[in-house]
Amino acid sequence: MADSFSASWRGMRELRLTIIVGARPNFMKVAPIVDALNAARSAGATVAYQLVHTGQHYDARMSGAFFDDLGLPRPDINLEIGSGSHAEQTGRTMMAVEPVLTEFAPHVLIVVGDVNSTIACALTATKMGIKVAHVEAGLRSGDRTMPEEINRLGVDAIADILYTTDSGADANLAHEGVPAERVVMVGNVMIDTLEKHRARAAERGYAASLGLTPQGYATMTLHRPANVDTAERFVEILDALRDGLGDLPVIFPIHPRTRAKAETFGLMGRFINTPGAPGIYLTEPLGYLEFLDLNANAALVATDSGGLQEETTILGVPCVTLRDNTERPITVSEGTNRLAGTRRAGILAGLADALAATGTPSRPPLWDGRSGTRIVADLIARHNAQQTKPAEPA
Ligand code: UD1
Repeated sequence: MADSFSASWRGMRELRLTIIVGARPNFMKVAPIVDALNAARSAGATVAYQLVHTGQHYDARMSGAFFDDLGLPRPDINLEIGSGSHAEQTGRTMMAVEPVLTEFAPHVLIVVGDVNSTIACALTATKMGIKVAHVEAGLRSGDRTMPEEINRLGVDAIADILYTTDSGADANLAHEGVPAERVVMVGNVMIDTLEKHRARAAERGYAASLGLTPQGYATMTLHRPANVDTAERFVEILDALRDGLGDLPVIFPIHPRTRAKAETFGLMGRFINTPGAPGIYLTEPLGYLEFLDLNANAALVATDSGGLQEETTILGVPCVTLRDNTERPITVSEGTNRLAGTRRAGILAGLADALAATGTPSRPPLWDGRSGTRIVADLIARHNAQQTKPAEPA
């Protein structure tokens, strides 16, 4: 498969693309695609694209900061959807994106990941006869209580082009009957972004600015409804982390929904105000470069996030996943991840295992920093093949 750009694209018929972002984990997946599109244009490809932000995440720390850190252009359009129930958020996004797609008339809509913005825009485009490309297709946790799993299943069922991160995802799609010609393994766009910004993150030196020493602390994140929406589960996880990590300080950039729950449940007194002291230290959600530096230097990362499982694998930092399942099993089989569940005994065992691990970095095939380029090369090749097809007989 082509993974570089060709000057022979000069003279191609224009390819029009709409790219959707909505929530924090989307920004680092879209950035390398935008970079690759700009590189393709410099190499002579005729591609027009618009970047549409649904506004699912709207706090500066959950959204705007990432455009600056990642060098992403400002969105051409912000649909300002905001928060709401799943039905409200999905429905409002569908209604708002439809006129945008009508006006721009893209050949292909690009969606990434598994958030509500992803399914809402994919469903809208498909019904309008616009082709949908799904980046990070084929991941399955097998857990239909996760809203993201429903989003993954829905998007992959209707997408026309499915870009996957690994052969496990390809196998899942084959099992579900997705025709092989729609599926292209391109590697992992999140890792493109990590590799591009790793040195800058180290220069930023956020961990040192908090007085932390390499491997002298742990990082945690927690935001899944299953983990934070009941006081009992939330407290069990916090207590297990505090007890399992002993004197190792824990830095916890807290998601707004998690903070709101902690306040409602009266848990704010459990957190400490000094980074570097034993206990769990809260920060606001961090920018990309700050958080990357924090994770790169951590002794371990405890998380219920999806993307962090992948990033820690490449960084060679042990990861303790606070879930019973993962849609990213390659990070367990080949990476630094382990599933600890959400109960005390499992978390304590997971932390002990991670603290004893060497955390050797591993690199699954094609997680090499060139995934965005592969995606754009494939989109242009498909478009050109479509344009040169002989007309159907009348
Ligand atoms: C969403 C994604 C999840 C992803 C996470 C990363 C879905 C179904 N879930 O979850 O897969 O891991 O983003 O962050 O799409 N809020 C704010 N400010 C914001 C955004 C949200 O305060 O900028 C608060 C609001 O109280 C909101 C709540 O967070 O109601 C939940 O936001 P929502 O976008 O519905 O889902 P996330 O939990 O962020």
